[in-house]
Amino acid sequence: MQHPILVVGHRQGIGRAITEHLLQQGHSVLGISRQAVDFSHPNLDSRLSAAADVRTEDLPEVLSGVVYAPGSINLKPFRGLKPADFQADFQQNALDAVHVLQCAEKALKAGHGAVVLFSTVAVSQGMPFHASVAMAKGAVEGLTRSLAAEWAPNVRVNAIAPSLTDTPLANKLLGNEARAQAAAERHPLKRVGHVDDIAEVAIMLLQSNWISGEVLGVNGGMGRLRIS
Ligand SMILES: NC(=O)c1ccc[n+]([C@@H]2O[C@H](COP(=O)([O-])OP(=O)(O)OC[C@H]3O[C@@H](n4cnc5c(N)ncnc54)[C@H](OP(=O)(O)O)[C@@H]3O)[C@@H](O)[C@H]2O)c1
Repeated sequence: MQHPILVVGHRQGIGRAITEHLLQQGHSVLGISRQAVDFSHPNLDSRLSAAADVRTEDLPEVLSGVVYAPGSINLKPFRGLKPADFQADFQQNALDAVHVLQCAEKALKAGHGAVVLFSTVAVSQGMPFHASVAMAKGAVEGLTRSLAAEWAPNVRVNAIAPSLTDTPLANKLLGNEARAQAAAERHPLKRVGHVDDIAEVAIMLLQSNWISGEVLGVNGGMGRLRIS
């Protein structure tokens, strides 16, 4: 990947792990987050911006990849979800990703780049209290396949659908020992995800030449296995 990779959401969590892996491999990263990052690297250009405020003219003319990592886990009983909850989740997970990709389209095509988006295991597995995020991420999965078809063969587009992964976003769900243990036990592989589990797959999707339109489950076995 000879041109920069745009990582939206590089300050923390999975986006940060992807950024660190890319930098370790010698790639250049343009990182965008709303708050300042507490790390630097000669090959990292960190910018402060919300995804919705990204502008084409601020991006390089050629990109080898785009990773869109912002997301939400707002779990509520269905009756407690207001239209504003659905709208906020849809905006952050789906529409802001669309905006970034529309800004990056020309540069991605110039660089024969690859896109990595994020869904969740809760799209393919029905889980209580996930209605809003599962709807928004379902849209991301549809976007992944549509855009992969529309931009082939120039640009590859894939998504990762993680299960619970230890990041600041998941803190509410993993915040105490009992919860963390119960979450680990629910997974056939008996642990929750580590950011590197997800980052390694993201790097593979950025670099592979013959995968497009896929939503890869990275989920400790939650996607396919039933062991009790
Ligand atoms: N962690 C999990 O258990 C889990 C499970 C399933 C799916 N996922 C998905 O995986 C992806 C990564 O999750 P994560 O756990 O790493 O999330 P995270 O810990 O909340 O990190 C999100 C990153 O995105 C940035 N960000 C958030 N909103 C933004 C915006 N509007 N514009 C620009 N940057 C923004 C944040 O930095 P700033 O706050 O500085 O902007 C941060 O760097 C998400 O799409 C999430 O839905 C995560």
